[in-house]
Amino acid sequence: MVMKIKKAVIPAAGMGTRFLPATKAMPKEMLPIVDIPTLQLVVEEIVAAGIEDILIITGRGKSAIEDHFDRSIELEKLLEEKGKVEELADIKNISSLANIYYIRQKEPLGLGHAVLCARQFVGNEPFAVLLGDDIVHADLPVIGQLASIYTERGGTVVGCQRVGWENVHKYGVVDTDDPEASVVRVKRLTEKPDRSEASSDLAVLGRYIIDPKIFDIIEKTKPGAGGEIQLTDALNTLASLQQVWAYTFEGRRYDVGDRLGFLEATVEYALRRDDLSEKFRSFLSSLK
Ligand code: G1P
Repeated sequence: MVMKIKKAVIPAAGMGTRFLPATKAMPKEMLPIVDIPTLQLVVEEIVAAGIEDILIITGRGKSAIEDHFDRSIELEKLLEEKGKVEELADIKNISSLANIYYIRQKEPLGLGHAVLCARQFVGNEPFAVLLGDDIVHADLPVIGQLASIYTERGGTVVGCQRVGWENVHKYGVVDTDDPEASVVRVKRLTEKPDRSEASSDLAVLGRYIIDPKIFDIIEKTKPGAGGEIQLTDALNTLASLQQVWAYTFEGRRYDVGDRLGFLEATVEYALRRDDLSEKFRSFLSSLK
């Protein structure tokens, strides 16, 4: 039976080793795109898709995340006294975006293990998973696009795009009969394959609607690529039990955990902003 997606999980416990030294004392999910933390963009995507209950899986050194989504009474008072009406509204809005819950992953055992930490919160219903360092600029929120596919077809849905053969070793890669189709059944999923082993360049990019059967499967999943318990390996097992759909979503995706991806996101988000685009564009065109 197809159910409405009411809960979302954001694994945000990773150490951010691709972005040191910035992430030594700051969670990578708090890296700002212009002036908005990456994680806030992910939360806004979830809210825009009509999902209000969110569990963020955190870890050691991630308390800035909880502070960000909490009220800040001192700051609100200060902005009120200074008559900064817009800033005050923005700040208050962040703390009332959604019902946000937190749990800590006590050891960095991998993405699959992080998702397993959500078992109590999720219970026995299908749920959304969004990775905290993948952002997508899209007309329709990507997780909402996946939820629509789930409503039509049931099962489990993984959000994908083609990444080019030179990049397959960085991703979970989908084996299907037709990598060109916008929705297609997954035959097999492989985490970070060598280019020679990859069956397509269709990669899973940080958005999932997952059947709760995944939890029993993760419990039995052995460490895979990088010695970690991989969500991709558990989804691969799930694909042998039920339909798992690879859906090629609409939108421009950025890997903010990667230096170049972060720069691309920063520049393009700034160029889309009414308050910045004109001046920033003329600055960019003045560069030699
Ligand atoms: C994770 C997943 C991988 C996915 C990627 C991009 O890898 O394990 O399957 O393709 O995110 O969303 P990571 O980037 O954490 O190494």
